[in-house]
Amino acid sequence: MKAKMTLAKEFRIGDIDKRIYGSFIEHLGRAVYGGIYEPGHPTADEDGFRTDVIDMVKKLNVPIVRYPGGNFVSGYNWEDGVGPVEKRPKRLDLAWGTTEPNTFGTNEFMKWCKKADTDCMMAVNLGTRGTDAARNLVEYCNHKGGSAWSDLRKAHGYNDPWNIKLWCLGNEMDGGWQMGAKTATEYGRAALEASKVMKWTDPSIETVLCGSSSRNSWTFGTWEEQSLDIAYDSIDYVSLHQYYANRTDDIQSFLGHTMQLDEFIYSVICICDYVKAKKRSKKTINLSFDEWNVWYHSNNRPFEKWSVAPPLLEDIYNFEDALLVGSMLITLLRHCDRIKIACLAQLVNVIAPIFTQTGGGIYEQTIFFPFMHVSNYGRGAALLPLLDCPKYDCKEYTDVPYLESIATYNEENEEVTIFCVNKSLDEEAILDVNLMDFEGYKPFEFISMDGYDKKAENTFNAVNVKPHNNPVPAMDGTNLTVAMKPLSWNVIRLKK
Ligand code: AHR
Repeated sequence: MKAKMTLAKEFRIGDIDKRIYGSFIEHLGRAVYGGIYEPGHPTADEDGFRTDVIDMVKKLNVPIVRYPGGNFVSGYNWEDGVGPVEKRPKRLDLAWGTTEPNTFGTNEFMKWCKKADTDCMMAVNLGTRGTDAARNLVEYCNHKGGSAWSDLRKAHGYNDPWNIKLWCLGNEMDGGWQMGAKTATEYGRAALEASKVMKWTDPSIETVLCGSSSRNSWTFGTWEEQSLDIAYDSIDYVSLHQYYANRTDDIQSFLGHTMQLDEFIYSVICICDYVKAKKRSKKTINLSFDEWNVWYHSNNRPFEKWSVAPPLLEDIYNFEDALLVGSMLITLLRHCDRIKIACLAQLVNVIAPIFTQTGGGIYEQTIFFPFMHVSNYGRGAALLPLLDCPKYDCKEYTDVPYLESIATYNEENEEVTIFCVNKSLDEEAILDVNLMDFEGYKPFEFISMDGYDKKAENTFNAVNVKPHNNPVPAMDGTNLTVAMKPLSWNVIRLKK
C-alpha cells in the first residue's frame, strides 16, 4: 500500500495541554491496595508506596491523575480517609460490592502524587453528598490555615495546603448504576451550586461538569445540553467517557472505532458551542476526556462480595488493544485545541497499563508502550497531517483510513514526531512524507511495535509485546520514506 503525507508548521491544530496524558486511580479492585499502596511489599517505601510502581508511572510521564473515582466517589465520605488510620471506619462500597478499609485517603494520595511527579485531579461526591462536603474538602485541601477544615489538615500532619487545581463535579451522574444518579436538570443544579461554592472557597480552581457516561448512553446529547445550559457560567470543562471492546473478534471494526470516537468528540464540541451561542457567552467550554481505554476482557468475572481489594476489572491486554490505544491517543491529539485533559482509565491493575502481583512482581501491559511514546514525545503542538491513503470497509464502519496518524512539533527542542498506526492486516504501508518547511530536520529514531500475533499478551515472566528500534528511514531533502509493517504502531522522530 502506498500513502502520502504532507506536514507543515501552518497545519497546527493547537498547543497540546500536557494534561491530555493524564490517568486515573480509583478505590476499585487492586488499583490502590496492592497497586500503588502496599505496606510490607519488598519495594514499599516508608509510606507504604510501591516504588516499583512509582518508577513505572514515571516512565509514562503522567502529569495528572484523577482520584478517588469513578463510581466509588459517589458514595465516598472523604472524612473517612483522613486522620489517624486506626480510627478510620471500614465502609461498604456499594459501587463495586467490596469493603473499603480507608487506610489510604486524600493525604496519602497527595503524598503519592508528589513522589510520582504528578498532580491530582480530585473528584467530589455529588451522589450521596453534595455542596457542603465538596466545599469542605476544598477548604481541607487548599486553604492555608485558620479555619476548621484547614486546621484539621494541619492537625493531621500536613501543614502546607495541597493546592489542588482541578476538580470533577461527581462521576457519570446520568447512569442508573451511580449512587445518587440524577436527571440532567437535577445534576445541572447540583453541579452549578457545588462548583460555585467550591470556587468561592478557592477561586483558583477549575471544575469539570460530568457529561454522559458514554456516547452510547441514552442520555447523550440532551444531558450535555441541559446540564451545560444550567451550569455553564460556573464550570470550565465537560467530561467524556468511552471504552471499546472486541467481543466478536472483528479486528477491523475494533480498530475502526476511532471513527466513532472522532465523531463523539466533535459532537460534544458542537454541543458546548451551541450552548455558548445560545447564551451569547464569551466563554468557551473545553473537554476533559477523563475516562478512555479498552475494557471488556475481565467482564463478568466472579469475585468474593464485600472482600477488600479483590481483583476487579483486571483486563490483560493484547497487541490489538495496544494498536487501538495508540489510535485513540492520535484521535485525542487531533482535537487538542479543545481537549485539554484526558485520563487513560486506569493506571495500575484496574484496566491498566501497569500490572502488579500483590506481594510480587510488576510488568508493562501491551498498551503501556504507545501511551509512553505519545506522552513522552508528543509534546508541543499537534500538526494535522494531510494524509492520502487507501481506506477499508468493515462491519461497523465505511471508509476507515488504513493509516491513523498525527504529528507533533516541539518548537523548543526542535523536534518533530510522527505517530502512525497501520491498520492493514496484511499490507505494508510505504509512506512518503513531505516535510515542506521543516528544512534541516533529520530522522534519528524509528520505533515500532509490529510482527506480533494480534492476541499476544505480556506476562510477569515475558514482556514480549514491546517496541523495538528500526533502521532510521531514508530522507531526500525534505522527503521522508517510511515502510510500516502490517498491523503496526510506529513512531518516527526527527530533529533539526
Ligand atoms: O473505570 C471504571 C469505571 O468505569 C468507573 O468507575 C466509572 O466511572 C466508569 O463507568
